[in-house]
Amino acid sequence: MRSDVGHRIGRWQALCRGQHIVTPTVGVDLTALTLGPGVSPCQPVSVACQGGVSGPAQTRRMTADLVIEAEGLVKTFGKTRALQGVDLAVPRGTVLGVLGPNGAGKTTAVRILSTLLAPDGGTARISGFDVVRDAERVRQSIGLTGQYASVDEDLTGRQNLELFGTLLELGRAGARRRAAELLDWFDLTDAANRQAKTYSGGMRRRLDLAASLVGSPDVIFLDEPTTGLDPAKREDMWDVVRSLVNNGSTVLLTTQYLEEADALADAITVIDHGRVIAHDTPEGLKRVVGGQTLEVRPSDPAQLPRTAEILTQVGSGAQADEIRKGVLAVPVTDDAALTESVARFATAGIAVTELSLHLPSLDEVFFTLTGRTASEDDTTTRPTEVAA
Ligand SMILES: Nc1ncnc2c1ncn2[C@@H]1O[C@H](COP(=O)(O)OP(=O)(O)OP(=O)(O)O)[C@@H](O)[C@H]1O
Ligand SMILES: [Mg+2]
Repeated sequence: MRSDVGHRIGRWQALCRGQHIVTPTVGVDLTALTLGPGVSPCQPVSVACQGGVSGPAQTRRMTADLVIEAEGLVKTFGKTRALQGVDLAVPRGTVLGVLGPNGAGKTTAVRILSTLLAPDGGTARISGFDVVRDAERVRQSIGLTGQYASVDEDLTGRQNLELFGTLLELGRAGARRRAAELLDWFDLTDAANRQAKTYSGGMRRRLDLAASLVGSPDVIFLDEPTTGLDPAKREDMWDVVRSLVNNGSTVLLTTQYLEEADALADAITVIDHGRVIAHDTPEGLKRVVGGQTLEVRPSDPAQLPRTAEILTQVGSGAQADEIRKGVLAVPVTDDAALTESVARFATAGIAVTELSLHLPSLDEVFFTLTGRTASEDDTTTRPTEVAA
């Protein structure tokens, strides 16, 4: 395979200078992007940019230590109100999980915050820089992994990363070093010299994330970063996100996997129909729903009926159910139900191998807040339309 990386860089740079749309061979269709005032269409090349900030001092307004701030973001596409006044706030060195069903407005919010799209109303700042007025400065500090992969499929994994490094002016050796580091980090070293088009979906996703990190950005937007990854790779990706944050990065992550938000996010903003309907810590959100569940597995499955009777007595009145094979669960309103059930099992001579008290899952929280499960994609998830 022959790929002329130098030629590609030259072409991309020429296109950037000429303000033409750059459309990578694969991935985000840049022609579909609506660009804000003063926003270069070449930003997917520069969006992961980091490094020296030059030029005249820009207006910079930062609230406390909020790295990502948005107030009243509004965006309308024709008759569709994608965002209807969204506020977001992410303190330095933390992860904000943005949850919402299909069409809730998550990607639209990320595109505005990463300068790919101009808002119709409201304001947003990244590290104190306005995403519209100071778009260039914003792009210098962010990394963006979109919902759809944006790597060049004709290049190998390594060439893709080295190309980004070269565009970010890391120098030849620096670009090589960074590419090797990221390939290792994302478990792609063995596939490094294969064209990206031969990669599996999960490998492409990892390469896309690696590409957004070439410039070691301070602020990272991850729009559904683990969609399509198998569970093991998803957990690897969670480790990557955790180590980014440990190294001081601030992350805004959209996801439909509630366990992902639970595992990674310091705070969660739930969006529905373009509006924020809840914002809290994962624990706080679970407490909003209220109640806990007591789960018990008797050692002897023959004891299930008797165990269920006891659980029903100590619970909040509902019948105990078998939620997994051999495991009974009952809703309880009080932590004391745990100790009371232990005493009753002892008196009844029932040995148990599992006994635990759970807060509601985020799935339950989501259902309570929106009346739908996170993965549900029915007509009720359509955003509000502007009245004709
Ligand atoms: N460029 C566009 N033109 C027209 N409508 C758009 C455009 N981009 C987004 N929309 C609409 O705006 C609404 C919000 O879309 P958005 O992509 O932000 O949702 P999302 O929360 O990211 O959904 P998903 O979970 O499916 O990724 C949707 O109804 C979508 O169809
Ligand atoms: Mg989306």
